[in-house]
Amino acid sequence: MAHTLLVTGGTGRLGTLVTPLLRGGGREIRVLSRRPHAPTADTTWFTGDLRADEGIAPAVDGVDTVVHLAGGAKGDDVAAANLARAAARAGVRHLLTISVVAADRMPLGYFTAKRDAERAIADSGVPWTVLRAAQFHDLVLMTAGAMAKLPVVPVPGGLRFQPVDARDVADRIAELALGAPAGRVPDMAGPRVYGIGELVRGYLDATGKRRLMLPVRLPGGVGRAYRAGDNLVTEGITVGTRTWEDFLAERVGQPVG
Ligand SMILES: NC(=O)c1ccc[n+]([C@@H]2O[C@H](COP(=O)([O-])OP(=O)(O)OC[C@H]3O[C@@H](n4cnc5c(N)ncnc54)[C@H](OP(=O)(O)O)[C@@H]3O)[C@@H](O)[C@H]2O)c1
Repeated sequence: MAHTLLVTGGTGRLGTLVTPLLRGGGREIRVLSRRPHAPTADTTWFTGDLRADEGIAPAVDGVDTVVHLAGGAKGDDVAAANLARAAARAGVRHLLTISVVAADRMPLGYFTAKRDAERAIADSGVPWTVLRAAQFHDLVLMTAGAMAKLPVVPVPGGLRFQPVDARDVADRIAELALGAPAGRVPDMAGPRVYGIGELVRGYLDATGKRRLMLPVRLPGGVGRAYRAGDNLVTEGITVGTRTWEDFLAERVGQPVG
């Protein structure tokens, strides 16, 4: 039977890796974007804005599986609620989304919006799957690149990450999208936990830069949560195959940031 999938965020870092993995087998691939796109042979494009609740109904009409990968700095809760409502109305059979590791633990707006987005999807009445992932290498690279622009790099003590390669996450998302709804599946993170200083040091070494690093202390509840490792998850997880060092080795010599 023909299978129609709608990918939100199909133009983003993760989405551009996922959509090619979904093609084949007679499947129709739709992508929703806020900007109009010229027609392409292998994708049916829809223009819409999830946060503004515009253009969603036509995009989900006739869809079997929604792969919700759109996201931004703010408003992911509102976007997910709008999408979930439209998906339920359209009789979608599987609503899959990416979330972030520790969505229910970190006292930061991005995380709480992700937690609320997960709830909107789980409460939608549409059979669902949620995969929480740690920070992608690309994000760490961008952050390290920005930090290395400073003459002295502040390094918050106790701040640790477990970055994962977006290609590993894309493989897992594609597997889940082509499978049955599975609820909350094991979180996905990279093979190692690194201090922020190690990540920045790796970036500096790989790009041949030298900077002074200055230990600082993150204040308040956010600082306490990071120092306690609330943003980490190390047990019962799906582990990505590529390390930060692998990723940096591929990118050395290429423009960064
Ligand atoms: N990056 C990370 O480290 C990380 C870690 C864990 C989870 N995640 C989650 O993974 C997802 C993908 O991340 P990414 O880094 O690949 O994102 P990205 O490269 O920044 O791309 C964001 C995507 O979201 C779409 N989008 C944003 N606002 C939208 C709206 N209001 N309506 C419709 N589409 C909208 C954009 O589409 P157009 O611009 O074409 O409209 C774009 O395709 C996000 O949900 C993110 O929170 C990311």
